[in-house]
Amino acid sequence: MAIVAAALMAIQAIRTPVRNSGATGELQAPPDVQAALRRACYQCHSQETNWPWYVQFAPLSWFVHGRVSAARRRLDFSAWRDYLYDPGTAARKLGAIDQMMHSGAMPPWYYRLLSARARITPAERAAIETWAIEGRAAALKAEPQ
Ligand code: HEC
Repeated sequence: MAIVAAALMAIQAIRTPVRNSGATGELQAPPDVQAALRRACYQCHSQETNWPWYVQFAPLSWFVHGRVSAARRRLDFSAWRDYLYDPGTAARKLGAIDQMMHSGAMPPWYYRLLSARARITPAERAAIETWAIEGRAAALKAEPQ
């Protein structure tokens, strides 16, 4: 037990804070969609993360840092304007969001267990999905492939 406690203290020296870089372009969406995304997705998929203090401790901090990095690489709502300028990108991201809403894979199950923020209602899920489908269609029309 003492060894475990000592090891837990020692690993606190390895800091992996989740840092936020500047947002390059805020996403435009209807207010209900925007609110649901902000609450349930932004902790991982944006540069506006704000994790509670108890997540700042290793090894949980390593896990969270790893997940947030992976999540931002795939989808970063703070970089939405870049997606719009890059042909095909916004449509692809919206297609992926539609899929994730449909399959229920996002927010991830471990986060749904940990945080009340992640529990989105069926109505919110449907609103996000409709927004993604319509946005994807509009994006594809605006930029012929
Ligand atoms: C706890 C962190 C976390 C939260 C909260 C979260 N995600 Fe994710 N998301 C991830 C991770 C991590 C990945 C990357 C999966 C992988 O690489 O295995 C991912 C991947 C995705 C992808 C796939 C992108 C692609 O290129 O295929 C989409 C879309 C997505 N998430 C949408 C959402 C939406 C919408 C929400 C909110 C309703 C959400 N996520 C909430 C962590 C999160």
